[in-house]
Amino acid sequence: MLNNLQQQPADALLALIKLHNDDPRTSKIDLGVGVYRTGQGDTPVFGAIKAAEKKLLETQNSKAYLGPEGDMGFVHALMPWVFGRQDPTKGGRIEGMQTPGGTGAVRLACALAKRAGVKRVWMGTPSWPNHAQIIADLGLELKGFKHNTAEGVVDMDALMGALAEATPEDAILLHGCCHNPTGIDYANAQWDAIAPAIKAAGVLPILDLAYQGLGYGMEEDAYGLRRVLAEVPEALIAYSCDKNFGLYRDRVGAVYVMMESADQVPAAISNGHALARAAWSMPPDHGAAAVRLILEDADLTAMWIDELDQMRTRMAQVRAKLAAAGVAGSVNLSPLGGQNGLFSIVPLSAEQILAMREKHGVYMAGSGRINVAGLTMNNIDQFIAAVADVSV
Ligand code: LMR
Repeated sequence: MLNNLQQQPADALLALIKLHNDDPRTSKIDLGVGVYRTGQGDTPVFGAIKAAEKKLLETQNSKAYLGPEGDMGFVHALMPWVFGRQDPTKGGRIEGMQTPGGTGAVRLACALAKRAGVKRVWMGTPSWPNHAQIIADLGLELKGFKHNTAEGVVDMDALMGALAEATPEDAILLHGCCHNPTGIDYANAQWDAIAPAIKAAGVLPILDLAYQGLGYGMEEDAYGLRRVLAEVPEALIAYSCDKNFGLYRDRVGAVYVMMESADQVPAAISNGHALARAAWSMPPDHGAAAVRLILEDADLTAMWIDELDQMRTRMAQVRAKLAAAGVAGSVNLSPLGGQNGLFSIVPLSAEQILAMREKHGVYMAGSGRINVAGLTMNNIDQFIAAVADVSV
């Protein structure tokens, strides 16, 4: 029976981690998977997390099960940051549960949508490759539309066309900020147009917020999500703390449902619990508990925000330097200066991306996506020279 299982390709993005680790060249540059790196190229544990973990070790007196919802103190402590300080539950219409990372959150959001009767999910492409994998694995139909134009700006016409075609049985998956892989986000004025269009289409929004704080700031990066939620009767929100708290391998996420009225919340959440129980039973506790301790403590919160600000500042410096380089070979790097978050696409062909890796030791995704945080003042000139070399 098990012989029926056919060899599957390794996840292309995760395979890059191994390829990079196996490369003996000291000059190699890892621009693959999305982890933040300092100017020294490290991915340290946040100081605020270290302090919270210390507190956790000292105060945690049990590791007994919490239940499929995970740490509800964590889930609720995040809500003012995501939904706004004023009435973060929207009169009891929003409730959530903890998930294993942002992937667990997207998975649960899509599974809930499916349970509710959704059959098709609209999504701008390119997108984070795992979005399509999750949608396909759940047996949902993916309807793609162009996220951005060749000029590197959001393709509003494509989005509005998709919304005009979508039906109330459909969902639409949108990135809240720091679009992965393009770094091309909707401007606030565009969200102002998107929110009523979603409402008019009657389509169910699934909003994925995996990089809050890494674009313009925690408040600023929530604009689109809050704008949509202000307009529509119901929505699903997938959230990740893996990047903005640097907790990648601890898998810290949450999924929230917003219902039309508060009395509908328990039924929706009970479906979330049932799906979680059948999939992973309960999410891992450690990272979420550390986040809760940070958010419950004003000093630790200030420390975390400061660390997040430093990350954003450094990425802005890298982007400014890339933009200042202008054209490298046949690639115009200028647009990268105006993009947001960890990622941007460098428009290279598959052969050129392979040459980046084989000839220059630069590891980037097959889509041309780079993790800009992998660039430092020590390796950025080497990267720009490599782009120029492979693209002449
Ligand atoms: C990425 O896109 O690199 C990250 O979200 C990591 C992942 O799980 O793919």
